Amino acid sequence: MIKPRHLISIAQLTKEDIENITNLAKEFKKNKRSNNLKERNVATIFFEESTRTRTSFELAAHNLGAYVIHLDVGKSSVSKGETIIDTINTLNAMDIDYFVIRHNQSGILNLVTPYVKGHIINAGDGCNEHPSQALLDYFTMIDNINDIKGKTISIVGDILHSRVARSNIKLLNKFGAKVRLVGPRTLLPIHESAEFTCYDSLKDGIKDADIVMMLRIQLERMEKKFIPSLNDYKKLYQLNSNTIEYAHKDALIMHPGPINRGIEISDEMFDWPKKVVLKQVENGIYVRQAIFSYLEGNNR
Ligand code: CP
Repeated sequence: MIKPRHLISIAQLTKEDIENITNLAKEFKKNKRSNNLKERNVATIFFEESTRTRTSFELAAHNLGAYVIHLDVGKSSVSKGETIIDTINTLNAMDIDYFVIRHNQSGILNLVTPYVKGHIINAGDGCNEHPSQALLDYFTMIDNINDIKGKTISIVGDILHSRVARSNIKLLNKFGAKVRLVGPRTLLPIHESAEFTCYDSLKDGIKDADIVMMLRIQLERMEKKFIPSLNDYKKLYQLNSNTIEYAHKDALIMHPGPINRGIEISDEMFDWPKKVVLKQVENGIYVRQAIFSYLEGNNR
């Protein structure tokens, strides 16, 4: 089997690739330290803000013995007009082996990849994809319910602007889950697909769901008014101690973060026993260690 050199999209991974990454992550959960990236240079380059993704990629690289540098984009030569391609070429000349990049332009990493000598990892590109998030979400799911085949997974919120939803839809379908997308019609896909069904009612959308994944309303990506107000959105789509009753009684509650407290999830849900949001964060380190280790040495 030829393994991938870069991680740009979930679409490029086979089911076997995902199982291999998940199995590696299980090993890192038992024992974090390894020398898989010894003498490798990892650069994290974030053109958009991040707490979880950047920190966990940096910790993951550190746990594997890599040397990690963070390019502070705001204080880099990007602010003097240098293009992303010239930034990549400059870092290539300094023997960077791994480029972990987040950017607000959907699809930009496909343009950058031909210029990278080593490996490139998509840490989120606009509304397009967030593959490492989908991999850590999947790891957290099977860590809790073992197998997602035939399980109903409801993704609730701003699907239109969500790279997390796009990557998850691709991954969950590879493993035979039933994917529901739930939210206001303006934030759902226009056309239905074999990969998901759409609901504009929270009650119907999460009815008997095995997993409920809540998403944030991404006001920063909205030029138009897609919802009347956050208050109206909250009345119709908030997960709280009443609305969770629609889901299966043992439903896992997930959220990729960051959370807008009191909007998509009520405060009382933070103590809900089946909420695994901080487990997703912890698992992010093991899964990102597994991603680096899986890409290492591949030249496809
Ligand atoms: N889930 C996620 O991408 O979070 P950050 O924006 O904090 O990295």
